[in-house]
Amino acid sequence: MTRREAEAALARDYPPGDCPALTRQRGVWARERPLAGLTLLDATPLFRNTLVKHLALRDAGAEVWVGYGRAMPFDPEALDMARALGLHIPDDARLKAGFDVVLDCAAAFSGVPARLGYAELTRSGAHRYRQAAKACPVIDVDHSRIKTFETALGTGDGLIRGLRRFGHGALHGKTAVVFGCGKVGRGILFRLTREGARCFVIDPARPIPPHGVAHAEAPHALLRAADLVVTATGVKDAAAPYAADLLASHAALANMGVEDEFGPAIPPTRVLNAKAPLNFALPDPTRMRYIDPTMALHNLAALTLARGAPAPGLHPPSPADEAALLATLPRPLLDELAAFEAAQGADHV
Ligand SMILES: NC(=O)c1ccc[n+]([C@@H]2O[C@H](COP(=O)([O-])OP(=O)(O)OC[C@H]3O[C@@H](n4cnc5c(N)ncnc54)[C@H](O)[C@@H]3O)[C@@H](O)[C@H]2O)c1
Repeated sequence: MTRREAEAALARDYPPGDCPALTRQRGVWARERPLAGLTLLDATPLFRNTLVKHLALRDAGAEVWVGYGRAMPFDPEALDMARALGLHIPDDARLKAGFDVVLDCAAAFSGVPARLGYAELTRSGAHRYRQAAKACPVIDVDHSRIKTFETALGTGDGLIRGLRRFGHGALHGKTAVVFGCGKVGRGILFRLTREGARCFVIDPARPIPPHGVAHAEAPHALLRAADLVVTATGVKDAAAPYAADLLASHAALANMGVEDEFGPAIPPTRVLNAKAPLNFALPDPTRMRYIDPTMALHNLAALTLARGAPAPGLHPPSPADEAALLATLPRPLLDELAAFEAAQGADHV
């Protein structure tokens, strides 16, 4: 694949209406070149739609290096496309030399020197940066309303697309049980409710379920009769105490967490996508429209670091940056976010 072919494929697959925030960013940055002369390592999980994020950074004038495969899965085809696009892939020696900015995910590249600082995508990664007490600024992109598009709405959408891919698309009237009522679990419950499923949640730490969702009062019997069971706790073996019920049930089983949340008694063949996060079976695990604002916010953090070094330690993204990004988004997407937030009730995360 040539560079021109790769660019044409991305333009075809991700029209501006699907990525308004990145499209706008690219337009402005191509004119202003605000990152000219900077070297930048981007470790956003490498899938096709991530390449549009990289191109925005390159349009801004940065020399873009792509970090992949350390903590997160990646798509080998996207890696080939990255090479065709002329993005740089670092070897260990290049990583050791460091960059001006590291845009990290899951703190996978926190050991790579960054002259101006880091921007981290995930909560667990931010936690690791806090513990490491780096003597430089770290922008905590998870600390934003915008991240909800990805973590909640995008994963809910990814679950539904993953279920369809495995032939479990019809959910109306079906009984669904979700383990975990954090950001991801709530996004899944919101979307399953919208699909017409009867939703139950198991999460001892969250006593107030979102609107339209019931607590699983008698979980053993419920799981035996369920049509769909989804894990989203972030905890290894979270559903293991219910293995006998799950093995006795006809339910489709799906894991959305990074760990094996079903535990060793449930064989991989019994869980869709062999226990890997279900949406990672898809070419774009998170659909562009849901990840576009987060990717643009992560990119903007590079600009914050380049413009005026904030004090060492963790910082949320600038509220002005977030507000400006939200203002570029289409009304239906903002309405979906508002509907999700309204459904969370008193126990909002
Ligand atoms: N598939 C994807 O695209 C995707 C995207 C983002 C995050 N994730 C993953 O999803 C998982 C959850 O992330 P999150 O941000 O919602 O985490 P979170 O910490 O906000 O929420 C997890 C919830 O699970 C609950 N929980 C913990 N142990 C439990 C148990 N044994 N039974 C029932 N509930 C339990 C906790 O009380 C908490 O409310 C993580 O593994 C994360 O990496 C996946």
